[in-house]
Amino acid sequence: MKKPFIFSFANSKGGVGKTTSCISTGCCLAEMGYKTLMIDLDHQGNLSDDLNRGDEDYTITDLFENPKFDINSIVYTALDRETPIENLYIIPADITLAIEARSAERFRHRLSILEDGLKRLQTSFDFILIDLRPAIDLSIENALLITDLIVIPVDMDRRAIKGIEDLLQVVKEVRRNEGYVYTLVKTKVNGSHKKMLTSTNAHIKDLNYNVMQTEIRVSELYKQATEAHRPSVIYASGQRPYQDYKALTIELLNLIKEPKNGA
Ligand SMILES: Nc1ncnc2c1ncn2[C@@H]1O[C@H](COP(=O)(O)OP(=O)(O)OP(=O)(O)O)[C@@H](O)[C@H]1O
Ligand SMILES: [Mg+2]
Repeated sequence: MKKPFIFSFANSKGGVGKTTSCISTGCCLAEMGYKTLMIDLDHQGNLSDDLNRGDEDYTITDLFENPKFDINSIVYTALDRETPIENLYIIPADITLAIEARSAERFRHRLSILEDGLKRLQTSFDFILIDLRPAIDLSIENALLITDLIVIPVDMDRRAIKGIEDLLQVVKEVRRNEGYVYTLVKTKVNGSHKKMLTSTNAHIKDLNYNVMQTEIRVSELYKQATEAHRPSVIYASGQRPYQDYKALTIELLNLIKEPKNGA
């Protein structure tokens, strides 16, 4: 079976747009005809809720509880309210994931629980997109170990930049000497906050981070979509969230054709 390309959406800072970027990129890839699997690795379950799979009895927690659990039984079709989204699938999370990830520390192959689980997938996917929680734990180390490209949303706030440094340090530890590839994505960009934009942009430039050209602009439509429990790019079809994430998805596809080493 063909090996899917794996993206993880990560930043140790909360609320920067990790889940929004993960779902939106997933919806755009699916719309372009790529068979895409999204994995919710956050016990808050925001990704699961937005794809209407927040109440399933079996979730990714079962894999961390029992690494031999059949991963195929937790692959669900993603839903926009009741309607299946073509080409989009999800492995949801639930609130007990954080506890199970902690108790999975006892397993000898604890860092490869996700990798070994994914090897047993019976469906072939083009892409896997993993949504991470704003902290570092065993489930995140599992994801970082198998990620091909780490996408780091930054909401143009200094604290989000601190979150990048913490995250990249963990990536270095988990991946040891292996090269790793990451890119920043600027989110919630508000053109009228010029002073803040200039200062954060200067800081990102000084630190010489890889950054995507596409910027995700601020929009009220994201909150409205969250309240409606619907993916933003489908809720706001044709509007700013859709336009920005479609452009980002195209840029990501071009980038992974010619990846640069981010290490
Ligand atoms: N471009 C944007 N413009 C305005 N609001 C946005 C934008 N992107 C995301 N939001 C809103 O910001 C909030 C946080 O977004 P999101 O849940 O994606 O962040 P997160 O990094 O996944 O958070 P957490 O760390 O809690 O997992 C949500 O209410 C979302 O609707
Ligand atoms: Mg999130």
